[in-house]
Amino acid sequence: APDISLTNVKAHLTQLQSIATANGGNRAHGRPGYLASANYVRGQLDAAGFTTTLQSFTYNGATGYNVIADWPGGDPNDILMVGAHLDSVTAGPGINDNGSGSASILETALEVSRQALQPAKHLRFAWWGAEELGLRGSQFYVNNLAAADRARIKGYLNFDMVGSPNPGYFVYDGDNSDGTGSGPGPTGSAELEKVIQDYFTSIGVPTRGTDFDGRSDYGPFIAVGIPAGGTFTGAEGIKSSAQATLWGGTAGQAFDACYHRSCDTTSNINDTALDRNADAIAYSVWTIATAVPPV
Ligand code: PHE
Ligand code: ZN
Ligand code: ZN
Ligand code: ZN
Ligand code: CA
Repeated sequence: APDISLTNVKAHLTQLQSIATANGGNRAHGRPGYLASANYVRGQLDAAGFTTTLQSFTYNGATGYNVIADWPGGDPNDILMVGAHLDSVTAGPGINDNGSGSASILETALEVSRQALQPAKHLRFAWWGAEELGLRGSQFYVNNLAAADRARIKGYLNFDMVGSPNPGYFVYDGDNSDGTGSGPGPTGSAELEKVIQDYFTSIGVPTRGTDFDGRSDYGPFIAVGIPAGGTFTGAEGIKSSAQATLWGGTAGQAFDACYHRSCDTTSNINDTALDRNADAIAYSVWTIATAVPPV
């Protein structure tokens, strides 16, 4: 799998920051900074040869948008989806939450194009609207899939907050191997978890599980039985001393002290965490999408 360019990922974050700054300081649902963000992402993907759709929906009296990008080719009955929410809260520009996931999957998609990847699976990327108002864009997408199209989606990888300034390295706990929290994901989620864990093991970075607690866009997918996975570097939760020993950083402080605040700017990113997660995304996409079915 390729090494994703941290420089390129950060250039996308700079663009999202500029969009927020030019549009009242945020990229929230129903605000002009959201549509500008969607148009930026879509423009990059169109230029790279993706087939893109701007799917609109209404929530709270405002139009929201999902950007859906299909990479031509692969088995149309065996689809891997990769998603991140593109909206921010109104309080700030949302660069870690979730410019980080949005930029990382965008750069992975652009690398798929540069390498002219011909995966066995069909690859579909998604940037969701209105996550911050209750997973509205991803829920709309799943609700509006025909049953046959839903059945073609064999896995969903979610990336929400992957550059937290005081990072943890969390992987969604597909099999509930720690026996705590909200239980396992749909059958197949453990396999997605293992692929991601294999990447972090290969670079010598320990991971811990995080539960499918319904706080991000995997929710509508697991609710209909689609296996899911992904990574997360932490939000308002406090890093414990054991976690600081494991990962470095500062015990007793939030993983992201600027979570949902105006200070979630391009300064609110840990470059090492962002780089490792972007590379983990590419490893997962290459490994899963190019595997011979039924992996
Ligand atoms: N989805 C939450 C938000 O956008 C953040 C979060 C991501 C929380 C993943 C838990 C797990 O605010
Ligand atoms: Zn890298
Ligand atoms: Zn958020
Ligand atoms: Zn988020
Ligand atoms: Ca577990």
